Amino acid sequence: MNLSTKITIAIDGFSSCGKSTLAKALAKKLNYIFIDSGAMYRGVSLYCIQNDLVKEGEVNETLLIKQLCGINLTFKNNDNTLKPELFLNGINVEHLIRNIDVASIVSKVASIKEVREKLVLEQQKMGEFGGIIMDGRDIGTVVFPNAELKLFVTADPETRAQRRFLELSETNKSITFEEISYNLEERDRIDSTRKESPLRQANDAILLDNSNLTQEEQLEFTFKLVQEKMRNEVVHE
Ligand code: DC
Repeated sequence: MNLSTKITIAIDGFSSCGKSTLAKALAKKLNYIFIDSGAMYRGVSLYCIQNDLVKEGEVNETLLIKQLCGINLTFKNNDNTLKPELFLNGINVEHLIRNIDVASIVSKVASIKEVREKLVLEQQKMGEFGGIIMDGRDIGTVVFPNAELKLFVTADPETRAQRRFLELSETNKSITFEEISYNLEERDRIDSTRKESPLRQANDAILLDNSNLTQEEQLEFTFKLVQEKMRNEVVHE
């Protein structure tokens, strides 16, 4: 491997701890592809809402599984922001997948085995040539178990809820801090205790607690790890 070889970087961790922000910034610096795998689970959840598969907060699993092959998820870069945006069956849904309705069912949708099987296969295909940074919950454990660099990001729950509140209250003035805090707790609980690929730190992942770190400090820390990884790969070649 030489310095121009493109490695695979897996970033996992709890909800709203800034994984995507870090992954995006690192991808820009390295000129890598960035994939927010959570957006894909959110896309399937939005499909459920739009197609009447949710009744009183419960997802109709049987119908969803039957319709899975008709759910097409793709990412396209926005020409202005240069950020990847999610398309559900050809329609840009980036602005719809971050709302609280989607957030309140996404962990349930993500616990369905058939949904995970479909999305994991698609994610592995996106990363088959390396040069990718993917963030999620099972990237280092299931999607790319052989990723050259794995990070597990965390931050204290209060800080995470505060960050999410600042972000969501820009577009939704009626949302409360308590609502967001409860949603994060619930999602973490479901994501960590589900039967299929529960959220856990891979044995070879490096822990990054960013409660007291700025975005720049996190980027610097991670960029150094990438450089070290590259150097070690060259030495051991
Ligand atoms: O990263 P996020 O908050 O946008 O993720 C939304 C949900 O999707 C989260 O509650 C857990 C689930 N998820 C998952 O199970 N596996 C992934 N690789 C990514 C997200």
